[in-house]
Amino acid sequence: MKVEGTPQRPIRLHHDGWSVDIIDQTRLPHRLEIATMRTLDHAAHAIEAMQVRGAPLIGATAAYGMALAMRADSSDLAMGIAADRLLATRPTAVNLRWAVEEMLGALFTVRPNERVEAAYRRAAEICEEDVATCQAIGAHGLTLIEQAAAGKQGAAVNILTHCNAGWLACVDWGTATAPIYMAHDAGIPVHVWVDETRPRNQGASLTAWELGQHGVPHTLISDNSGGHLMQRGFVDMCIVGTDRTTATGDVANKIGTYLKALAAHDTGVPFYVALPSTTIDWTLDDGFAIPIEQRAGEELTQLTGRTKWGENVTVSIAPKGTPVRNDAFDVTPARLVTGLITERGIAEASREGLKALFPERSR
Ligand code: MRU
Repeated sequence: MKVEGTPQRPIRLHHDGWSVDIIDQTRLPHRLEIATMRTLDHAAHAIEAMQVRGAPLIGATAAYGMALAMRADSSDLAMGIAADRLLATRPTAVNLRWAVEEMLGALFTVRPNERVEAAYRRAAEICEEDVATCQAIGAHGLTLIEQAAAGKQGAAVNILTHCNAGWLACVDWGTATAPIYMAHDAGIPVHVWVDETRPRNQGASLTAWELGQHGVPHTLISDNSGGHLMQRGFVDMCIVGTDRTTATGDVANKIGTYLKALAAHDTGVPFYVALPSTTIDWTLDDGFAIPIEQRAGEELTQLTGRTKWGENVTVSIAPKGTPVRNDAFDVTPARLVTGLITERGIAEASREGLKALFPERSR
């Protein structure tokens, strides 16, 4: 997607042909800053520090992290160490494990002296596959927006989203945002309610930024507003992303998603989850088995922002020493999900629904 008219991706190969450029998302929305990863440690740090975040992008970064590791040492031992280092960075998004396993699969089958080339090739494929997948998700999700628009006599379709499941979280298009961008580009009036997404504010700092860059009408709302807006009829549908979805359709996503799903259920607002199949954990049947990342208390006790003088400051907002619990994700049970928008179509959030679209997984 474009930033100030120029196509951008959150990850791409540097012009030297081997190091990897990322948009440093900790600097947004105030600065578009590119960081360059040259080592396995840089890639692991980028994921841990959330310079890159969002399930598909974490996977893509890990894939390039494996390639960078192979440049330094392409032995079997180094491959295993690199995989372990990357897998330890963040626990919830299953795309990380998927991408690392894809890379190991591509590397084990070739000789050590061929591994660097094989790693870069597979990492680039993973990125391009993600773009194609998000485009397909967009095309399927677009049909839902078209249906909603048909009943609105030209008024905008109001879509609520949580966190950032946009192009910044993927390689391009985004998952939840792909249908929105496609609808907007097709001339369908859309308006997005952007949850601020405390504590890290991915909605305020990332989703609002990328929608604004593309010219999609949107309004930032506090995390507590969604239920109220749904009750008043101001939301036509919710579309969110996910970090891991079980084979039975339970959805782990950014903390607060479950509350939106409950409100949507109570008010009869359709609640869709957009996801590439790489986010489905076919080994799990129960959402409560999904590991939930626990993050630093400072994310809640402090706020960071930019003053009107252009200075970045962090301020404390809670009494010193306040105990904090900071779960980064929650699980929305399948029964609250209207549909899963995948690259192969829209599935019912159930084992049967997913198997119908991914029959090869039923074996
Ligand atoms: O902690 P984050 O910012 O990595 O969490 C991101 C989300 O929860 C997204 O909704 C999810 O990864 C889907 S991204 C297409």
